[in-house]
Amino acid sequence: MSADKTDKYVLAIDQGTTSSRAIVFDHDGTIVSLGQMEHRQIFPRAGWVEHDPMEIWKNTREVIGQALSRADITRDDLAAVGITNQRETAVVWNRKTGKPVYNAIVWQDTRTQKICDRLAGDDGDDKYKERVGLPLATYFSGPKVTWILENVDGAKEAAENGDLLFGTTDSWVVWNLTGGRNGGEHVTDVTNASRTLLMNIDTLDWNEDIAADMGIPMSMLPKIVSSSSDQIGTGGPHTLIKGVPISGILGDQQAATFGQACFEEGQAKNTYGTGNFMLINTGEELVHSENGLLTTVCYRIGDQKPVYALEGSIAVTGSLVQWLRDNLGLIKDAPEIERLAEEVEDNGGVYLVPAFSGLFAPYWDSSARGAMVGMTRYVNKGHIARAVLEATAFQTREVMDAMNADSGVDLTELKVDGGMVKNELLMQFQADLLRVPVVRPKVIETTALGAAYAAGLAVGFWESQEELAENWSEDTRWEPQMDEEEAERRLRLWKKAVDRTRGWID
Ligand code: G3P
Repeated sequence: MSADKTDKYVLAIDQGTTSSRAIVFDHDGTIVSLGQMEHRQIFPRAGWVEHDPMEIWKNTREVIGQALSRADITRDDLAAVGITNQRETAVVWNRKTGKPVYNAIVWQDTRTQKICDRLAGDDGDDKYKERVGLPLATYFSGPKVTWILENVDGAKEAAENGDLLFGTTDSWVVWNLTGGRNGGEHVTDVTNASRTLLMNIDTLDWNEDIAADMGIPMSMLPKIVSSSSDQIGTGGPHTLIKGVPISGILGDQQAATFGQACFEEGQAKNTYGTGNFMLINTGEELVHSENGLLTTVCYRIGDQKPVYALEGSIAVTGSLVQWLRDNLGLIKDAPEIERLAEEVEDNGGVYLVPAFSGLFAPYWDSSARGAMVGMTRYVNKGHIARAVLEATAFQTREVMDAMNADSGVDLTELKVDGGMVKNELLMQFQADLLRVPVVRPKVIETTALGAAYAAGLAVGFWESQEELAENWSEDTRWEPQMDEEEAERRLRLWKKAVDRTRGWID
């Protein structure tokens, strides 16, 4: 590559569940600056979770400004912009006014259970699985759009008139960044499209029959583009990235897989965010899970064949710590949980199953709700803090077991990233439970890094995936220390606790 390109930077925008961030990366994949703003979590009823799309768009613009000014650069210094996002969260907006017709319905929201049941009919939750790789569950976007069309006054008619657009938050941000109602690009990438229940997982086209079942006019759906492509769009005149190519889009979990350089078949990563998401690269082969995992697109570079993944999704991990802080007031900030958990030897017999959105992988049980079991008078705050952290590790172990069963080959180590991997106690317990080493890379902002990589590859800022893989380096490795029998005993108790949560909603 030419020498001048190394003087440039790539900007990644990470529109996440709790915040929007913009991160400037240099050619070595090192973070130069960061801007971040949290947005409101709106809980109108039990099981409902919403975001305000206008707040998200406003914050996105602001964090771009923060990141550029903190790096002391302008758009002229940017080679490309990459977008990554919370997946499945559905936004429906009017293409003429640029205004959403309803709040974004977030991936954790369970209001669409009845719609899912109706769609499943006598065929059951796996009705569309062969075609789209996913079971019918409240997690995915399609039924959220159905809910908006059926429940917001005038929405159905406006959609039928071709006035409404649907998108996950990547689409919403890109549409606004590329001009909004003055000709914004209405696009999404293959990875985000693979989370809607609406895309054929083999041909990567929208499935018109499923869209019709859900009552979604085809005119609402974005154009599906590759994850890394110079054909997506450029920053509009009213933005701080005016004229800069937006050349990468990846759903956040696929972005983290890309950022962890899991480019070879069989390589896997686990991200500890609001939820946990383990993805294993299955190459160009489409693998249908027998053990409660999702078949999803891992990424697609330009016109190359898509690369697929199997995914184990866990709805509640980091958000359980947030809940402990915000709803119970048991801790003041997230790092305090580790200090509290360290005050005790073990969980004191307490198991907390955070089935707040039902159970995702490997159970896919929407009838489950959270429970804390094993309580005695002995239990104190420290034990509960430990049970909260351990819940993340137990859920991850169950997903890894499913992955090993599906692939027939056991993972020999697990690459991890995300906010919670700073928590040493959790990482050690994770290795104890998984019985394989847990490996944390130097850059744990792998989600944003993956989006930057996808964008930079498309414009030649980086030459090849091999070059990206060379940037990856190990920081810390945790080896299993706990006696195996003890780890298995605790896992048995965890599974008993999980059983207690099931069938709660009838
Ligand atoms: O599928 C939901 C996922 O994309 C959200 O990720 O990082 O907000 O937990 P995160």
